[in-house]
Amino acid sequence: MSNISARLRLLRTALMRRFIYTDIVAMAEQYGLSIRDVCADVEPFEFAALATGSPLSGPDFSVLREADFTAADAYAAGWSSEPSVGRFLGRLAAARRAAVVIELGCFVGWSTAHIALALAKSNPAGRVHYLDYDRRYLDTAGANLRRLGLEAQGQPHQGMSTDPAVQSALPAKADIVFIDTSHDYECTLQEIDHYGARLNPGGCLVLHDSLSASGVRRAVYERKDRFRVATFATERSNGITVLWPQ
Ligand SMILES: C[S@@+](CC[C@H](N)C(=O)[O-])C[C@H]1O[C@@H](n2cnc3c(N)ncnc32)[C@H](O)[C@@H]1O
Repeated sequence: MSNISARLRLLRTALMRRFIYTDIVAMAEQYGLSIRDVCADVEPFEFAALATGSPLSGPDFSVLREADFTAADAYAAGWSSEPSVGRFLGRLAAARRAAVVIELGCFVGWSTAHIALALAKSNPAGRVHYLDYDRRYLDTAGANLRRLGLEAQGQPHQGMSTDPAVQSALPAKADIVFIDTSHDYECTLQEIDHYGARLNPGGCLVLHDSLSASGVRRAVYERKDRFRVATFATERSNGITVLWPQ
């Protein structure tokens, strides 16, 4: 009965609000259990290199520094994905010699820059089509690509990932689609269904926050029978999942 007050708090929350996931997480943290305990600092290509003793080939991402990718509003601090996610996306694009990558939710262009850098080295005709509904973030992402001399590798798109007009302006087919938008269950499910159908043979969806965001986790779980699924931990415990159509 030592947790009676926590239980009563949860019951009150459950009666008053529909979404109680954050409250359960907060309560678990009070008891020393945290989803943030899940961590990793090696992305899958680095894991394969470590496991096999092979050298890592591909682009040098050390020219990209997290501190150079900031948003003007403090509210959005921490929205960029972990460095291992950028390296993974870049290496995946290079390894597949991707010609078309779509990024849904580019924010200030941290992950976009990794993909663009990899395309510049592996397939200079390749393009990353980066999307955000917020014009300020889209412009900052564009400015970051220009600063790095990677503008030619990127094509900006403004709007919502689920808007049919936006979808029709994006390439009909893609080798990789990176999904990192609202993390809301319904929206993620729509994104998986719509963009999963746009993949070239051998192509894949990559979803960020597939461990930390309940909406993404649930959407992946709902669609697990339609895809081959690989989920990896990341250094801030957010996680990534790769989906290949069956
Ligand atoms: C977590 S941030 C993206 C981080 C970025 N991909 C990275 O790895 O550094 C999410 C971005 O998605 C945008 N966004 C959220 N929902 C969206 C939607 N449905 N369509 C387009 N953009 C969306 C937000 O404005 C925000 O800039």
